[in-house]
Amino acid sequence: MQNILTNAMDEASVGLKPFDEPIYITRPLVPTLKQVTEKLKGVWQSKWLTNHGDLHRELEEKLQVVLKVRNVSVFNNGTTALLTALKALDLPQGSEVITTPFTFPATVHCIAWNGLKPVFCDIEPDTMTIDADKIEELVNKNTSAILGVHVYGLPCDVEKIQKVADSYNLKVIYDAAHAFTAEINGKGIGNYGDISMFSFHATKLFHTAEGGCLSYNDDQYIDKLYYLRNFGIKNEEEVVEIGINGKMNEIQAAIGLLNLDLIGEEKLKRKEIKSVYIKHLALLDGITLLEFPKNTTDSMGYFVVKIDQKEFGVSRNEIYDSLKQYNVFARKYFYPLCSEYEPYKQLKSSSTTNLPVANKIKDEVLCLPFYGGLGAVNAGKICKIIEYIKYRNKISTEVSV
Ligand SMILES: Cc1ncc(COP(=O)(O)O)c(C=O)c1O
Repeated sequence: MQNILTNAMDEASVGLKPFDEPIYITRPLVPTLKQVTEKLKGVWQSKWLTNHGDLHRELEEKLQVVLKVRNVSVFNNGTTALLTALKALDLPQGSEVITTPFTFPATVHCIAWNGLKPVFCDIEPDTMTIDADKIEELVNKNTSAILGVHVYGLPCDVEKIQKVADSYNLKVIYDAAHAFTAEINGKGIGNYGDISMFSFHATKLFHTAEGGCLSYNDDQYIDKLYYLRNFGIKNEEEVVEIGINGKMNEIQAAIGLLNLDLIGEEKLKRKEIKSVYIKHLALLDGITLLEFPKNTTDSMGYFVVKIDQKEFGVSRNEIYDSLKQYNVFARKYFYPLCSEYEPYKQLKSSSTTNLPVANKIKDEVLCLPFYGGLGAVNAGKICKIIEYIKYRNKISTEVSV
């Protein structure tokens, strides 16, 4: 047995050594400094740095086209945008919002910060989005809304969710932080529900360093969101809402406008990396690759695998740790679940019996490095390392037997 290890696949014979530089999960797109300076010339001349400037307006108009939605309001980050969306819906204080535990903390915090109660619903095993079939059993007279997350850009079951919402007169909000330009049957994902939020954080495919936006079809929210985003100020003498400061500044908007021109090429590069990952990893037993339903588009934000420890031979955590030894920093999105966080773990809906699928999947998911600059060769090397981790374990198990 030991011969197999030394002759066939020891580290040296497969040419594996750690990357010289750390490989992170993503690297932000950046325009050239010259382009940024050029774009900011007008801002410097006018000295109009924030408060709904020209670039802010231009970005909103362009995003309506890119996201294929009727209305867009940009914000200084996605969290403030989501906080404001929930506020704009005027949900009764203390009412319940049904959501997923399999998300970034901001999703659930925005519910709680609005004086609302999060109620966790389990997730669907393939898309890992909120399980639309399990929402109805959580609805009661205190329920006011459903907050779904298009996690990794995989769309929630928007039709089923809307059906439940219509039956019980609930609002629907989507956290589309991961789903920039995702579509269902050619329709922009920001058209579903009452309001959707996109994050433009630097880790996202499209970013403004920090930033975000809301999209919505109902024009009644245009003014409401405008006031809420700016302290509730309507004019010099009237303050009509309990608003916040959610405005995007002109420097953020400039970066966004420049980055909009870069995302097409970036997506093509990521497509190539995705195909390298799929080609190699699909061959390994115990790894499940994420599949986007046929009628949806991948927004190319994440490359996620699920590891079945029994079949793969090594746990997700061991792969994560072993990759670090090769200078590769994958991420365990989303481990732990939001239902395990200190402020939420005592909720009735946080019990593991209520969330069996989410509690299984949180130990299986791993996000691999995914950005254009990674290149196909490095993606191939990461696959080789993962294959080696599996093989090394197989051999050591056989040797010890
Ligand atoms: C699912 C999800 N929701 C909300 C947010 C918060 O967005 P932001 O960082 O723009 O405030 C993020 C992360 O950035 C996220 O991944």
